[in-house]
Amino acid sequence: MIRAIKGTRDLLPPESGLFEEVETVAREVFRLYNFAEIRTPIFETTELFARSVGEETDIVTKEMYTFQDRDESSLTLRPEATASVARAYVEHRLWEKPGLTRLYYMGPMFRRERPQKGRYRQFYQIGAEVMGSGAPQVDFELLEMLTLLLQRFGLTDAELLLNSVGCPQCRPAYHEALRKALEPRLPRMCADCQRRAQTNPLRVLDCKVPEDQPIIAELPVLKDYLDLGCREHFQQVCQLLDSAGIRYRLEPRLVRGLDYYTRTAFEFVHGALGSQNSLLGGGRYDGLAQVLGAPAQASQGIGFAIGEDRFVLALQAAREKAGAIVPAGSDVFIAPVGAEVQSACLALARELRAAGLSVETGEAGRKLGKLLELASRTGARFALLVGEQDLSGNQIPVKQLATGHQQSVERAGLSDYLKQALTAAPVTAGEVGKS
Ligand code: HAM
Repeated sequence: MIRAIKGTRDLLPPESGLFEEVETVAREVFRLYNFAEIRTPIFETTELFARSVGEETDIVTKEMYTFQDRDESSLTLRPEATASVARAYVEHRLWEKPGLTRLYYMGPMFRRERPQKGRYRQFYQIGAEVMGSGAPQVDFELLEMLTLLLQRFGLTDAELLLNSVGCPQCRPAYHEALRKALEPRLPRMCADCQRRAQTNPLRVLDCKVPEDQPIIAELPVLKDYLDLGCREHFQQVCQLLDSAGIRYRLEPRLVRGLDYYTRTAFEFVHGALGSQNSLLGGGRYDGLAQVLGAPAQASQGIGFAIGEDRFVLALQAAREKAGAIVPAGSDVFIAPVGAEVQSACLALARELRAAGLSVETGEAGRKLGKLLELASRTGARFALLVGEQDLSGNQIPVKQLATGHQQSVERAGLSDYLKQALTAAPVTAGEVGKS
């Protein structure tokens, strides 16, 4: 048997329905803040990620799916999308359009990480980027939008972790302090940290090796080295969050695993996710577009990416806790009683679908008992038992599958009756809905 590659998976119903739901609500929330969609290619030149995400990051050194094209150019499956959005911003000179550039995206990303629950090699992100402004107000509105999205799903127990990672002006002093503090400690640290201390000391703070954690906890923090501009910017973001009643926890060691970040950096973590607890992450990246060719005055930006797989895991956990059952099947299952009503049943199905109901039609000619059993097992809410006599008498027997209650409904008012009954009827998960 040929199986899906390790770290990749098929998203099947009912889980795929949750992905769809998250995407639909995300689009609605993004629209409220005037974001529009961008779709960038799934592969780009390797150089794009090396230059934007950073040569010394785990993503670039260990996790990219890179291959040589037939013309020997080096291509990479996108490990994230901010670099691609920044490339598109520069390629299409989007800063020349009036107003800020507000773009969102959703789709698969690829990282060769060790697979486990909540960590995959092909995973899905829903992200948004605002380019063209450095104002703290923009940071605030982005965090407010995320808070709203989490609220829409009842994930209000996700916690916002916040930090400022400074800018190229204040970073050298911090790097110096970090190097000094690392010097006596390095012999006790892992080989990666020993290398990073020379090449990009900030990346030492990303180290996941458990033995290194107590040492990292003793290192100086960036917040004590921020210059005046960065300090004021961060204070204003915090003040705006305070005044809107959005709660956050200051996390001075949060540096994020990508090199392009400046100033505001954040993550939302969620308790239901275990060790892979980062539901989403983001931050400001004021120099990124300039590195890729934008003029300095247009190169400020901030964004985030939600780990959609993890968002769905958190949502499943929350719904299970609340005892919510997701309807698994169609609104209506039409069971033809006898082969001769086949075309009348198909016409009835068309009529109900036109009224907005989801309808499945049972195969004409099969035993009624078998059809009703199938309707129940698939989680359909109502079954219509349609025989020749019912059609000629204009009265259709309607069976509510969760309770077994049955009553005849006049054909002309059938779709209105069903729509009303659907809002009140109890739901069964059906066998396909059970996980
Ligand atoms: P990131 O922190 O690398 O940031 O990824 C964002 C989110 O993607 C993580 O918080 C996590 O939920 C999810 N994620 C990452 N790797 C995996 C994986 N292997 N399996 C499942 N989920 C994963 C970025 O990607 C930045 N581009 C975010 C950003 C946008 N910053 C500014 N704009």
